[in-house]
Amino acid sequence: MARRKIVAGNWKMNMTPSQAVALCAELKDLVKSDDVDVVYCVPAIDIIPVVEAVKGTNVAVGAEDMSFEEKGAFTGEISADMLLDAGVKYVIIGHSERREYHKEDDASLNKKVLKAIEKGLTPILCCGETLEQREMGITLDWIRTQIKSDLKDVTAAQVAELVIAYEPIWAIGTGKTATTAQAEEVCKAIRECIAEVYGTDTAEKVRIQYGGSVNAGNAAELFAQPNIDGGLVGGASLKADFGKIVCYK
Ligand code: PGA
Repeated sequence: MARRKIVAGNWKMNMTPSQAVALCAELKDLVKSDDVDVVYCVPAIDIIPVVEAVKGTNVAVGAEDMSFEEKGAFTGEISADMLLDAGVKYVIIGHSERREYHKEDDASLNKKVLKAIEKGLTPILCCGETLEQREMGITLDWIRTQIKSDLKDVTAAQVAELVIAYEPIWAIGTGKTATTAQAEEVCKAIRECIAEVYGTDTAEKVRIQYGGSVNAGNAAELFAQPNIDGGLVGGASLKADFGKIVCYK
């Protein structure tokens, strides 16, 4: 069975709650689609108004991060239960900006993945190499290490349900998209890595997105690749262009 495409916006730290609601209204008719899952991953403070704003539409809401702790004295943190209670379905885990600015490592990201799955949230697990790593020729090894560590103790059935986003760090927010061939090469390697660890059935089911300067002009070609099941979109998710990315066909 063909995998269903999934296109997620990663709004990052851009929209105030009232701006977020206005953006939902602007995008409402543009992101209608019967064959693509559409997700807005939004800042924690925007979650409640955005869940309300997308009610009755085809859009699901995601968080940009969550705590791996159950609950308690963790000032500033947001738990999986809080996200679920607010109506969240997806959660980005291990975005390169979290890894870099908040020093999130694979061990803690693994705990986040396990907690999200335990609670019934779908992780969008991010991985990706730096420009330096690409130039050193160690991209595929690096990605395999990230995937294997971040998915430690996750079962094959659980892996089949999650979303992995391949985001080369040098392509994020730079306007410098990976070539279609580069994106497909790594997404294919991720699927092979999943097949190696969890079997081919699981690998055929897991959805793998490409992220990094996806825009209305390059989405169709990227999403047509056999191993690319949609995109994680930053900058272009904040404007009407996002509708063109969702309706890329
Ligand atoms: P970009 O961001 O589309 O602005 O490059 C992608 C991301 O960080 O998820």
